[in-house]
Amino acid sequence: MARALKARRVVLGVSGSIAAYKACSVVRLLVKAGCEVRVAMTANAAKFVGPMTLAALSRAPVTLDLMDPAHWDMAHLSLASWGERVLVAPATADLIARLAVGRACGPVEATVLSTKAPVFVAPAMDTEMWEHPATRANAERLGAFGYTLLGPVSGPLASGRTGMGRLMDPEEIVRRTLA
Ligand SMILES: Cc1cc2nc3c(=O)[nH]c(=O)nc-3n(C[C@H](O)[C@H](O)[C@H](O)COP(=O)(O)O)c2cc1C
Repeated sequence: MARALKARRVVLGVSGSIAAYKACSVVRLLVKAGCEVRVAMTANAAKFVGPMTLAALSRAPVTLDLMDPAHWDMAHLSLASWGERVLVAPATADLIARLAVGRACGPVEATVLSTKAPVFVAPAMDTEMWEHPATRANAERLGAFGYTLLGPVSGPLASGRTGMGRLMDPEEIVRRTLA
């Protein structure tokens, strides 16, 4: 699948969903497609998947803290201009809300706010969260900004139920991001 895709510089933003472990597959597929990948994470994402895992898979340091003095080059700005694609997968309801109001409180939000590259957002959450009018409005707002929403899809959820809110399949996320 991945070999026929166009290799690009991709910034992957990861947030604190139970689906965060699937970000590892997204990175692997992007690397397999010949992409250079840089990962930025929310603090909560790091409670679900180890930054070291994503660093090893992407073969690059992971940006977690906007205020890390090591980022003298302002990581969010350098990532924003470096990336040819900015992909947020998975995107929590809370992160989608923050993006919808233009927050820049962490490396993922600040990168999305700063970039001129196409932005792709792959939500993952429980059905009730996805169907709440607040999330519907926030997702629509991201669409109005020109961001591409990838899913979510219907299927088995971490809660044990089946419904809308499941993260789109990583292969499909990568295929659409690199198309
Ligand atoms: C076990 C567990 C799983 C969670 N899964 C999700 C999820 O899939 N989607 C979501 O929007 N929030 C989920 N949450 C809630 C988020 O972690 C919470 O809203 C958090 O503030 C999001 O932080 P972030 O957006 O900064 O990464 C989950 C929480 C827990 C404890």
